[in-house]
Amino acid sequence: MPETRQAPQSERANSPDSSDEPHPLIPQSDHPLAFLRGFLERPKEVGSIIPSSRWMERRITRTAEIAKSNLIIELGPGTGGTTKALLQSMRPDATLLAIEINPDFCELLTETIRDPRLIVHQGSASDVQEALTKHDLTAPDAVLSGIPFSTMPKNLGLSILRSVKDSLAPSGRFVAYQFRDVVHTLGKQVFGPASTQFELLNMPPMRVYRWDVPRTKKPRNPRPHPRR
Ligand SMILES: C[S@@+](CC[C@H](N)C(=O)[O-])C[C@H]1O[C@@H](n2cnc3c(N)ncnc32)[C@H](O)[C@@H]1O
Repeated sequence: MPETRQAPQSERANSPDSSDEPHPLIPQSDHPLAFLRGFLERPKEVGSIIPSSRWMERRITRTAEIAKSNLIIELGPGTGGTTKALLQSMRPDATLLAIEINPDFCELLTETIRDPRLIVHQGSASDVQEALTKHDLTAPDAVLSGIPFSTMPKNLGLSILRSVKDSLAPSGRFVAYQFRDVVHTLGKQVFGPASTQFELLNMPPMRVYRWDVPRTKKPRNPRPHPRR
């Protein structure tokens, strides 16, 4: 099940701006059992036993300036909590390409999030350019990553980060969130130093890193972003 462009959604569940304020210790409603099963089957890839909290979703959405972005890539959407938060903040004409390595998570995302702005792509975050080409998309304004760099080989981590850097548009940004600082250690080699924040209202508390691409960067794929 390589990818899916999905049908319109009449109602969007689990709005991050809902007036029902979540408690940080209450399990997320975004398929926690499917997430846990994913962790038990592929612990190094999933890297966490529960999805990000609503606070975490808000922080990464704001940090990546999703509301002003045209094309966004999410690396490692998991069971879709962060994906829904991104869609909630996105412009009606924006596109979200979600790149997920786990076929079960891809299937779940496709079945449960019906939004024409979302493209679910099954593949590795180290092949961002391949995914963009496949879906006839150009350089993203924002890339977000929740994938666990601390449990993957260093060379794979560096190759993912280089793939992100090569794909980003001039003035684009890369936001990565992690419990450990491995992504920052590797990211410094590829992008230089990041700006760092902390989200304490998450289990576990997370570091959030943002890197900005210079305005003058020449995009690898200069075609205009297609409008639907
Ligand atoms: C900690 S979960 C994050 C899920 C969700 N974004 C959140 O914050 O709740 C990490 C996700 O990254 C995915 N993943 C791990 N390595 C990957 C890779 N190389 N390419 C794409 N996805 C990957 C895992 O399958 C998992 O869904």
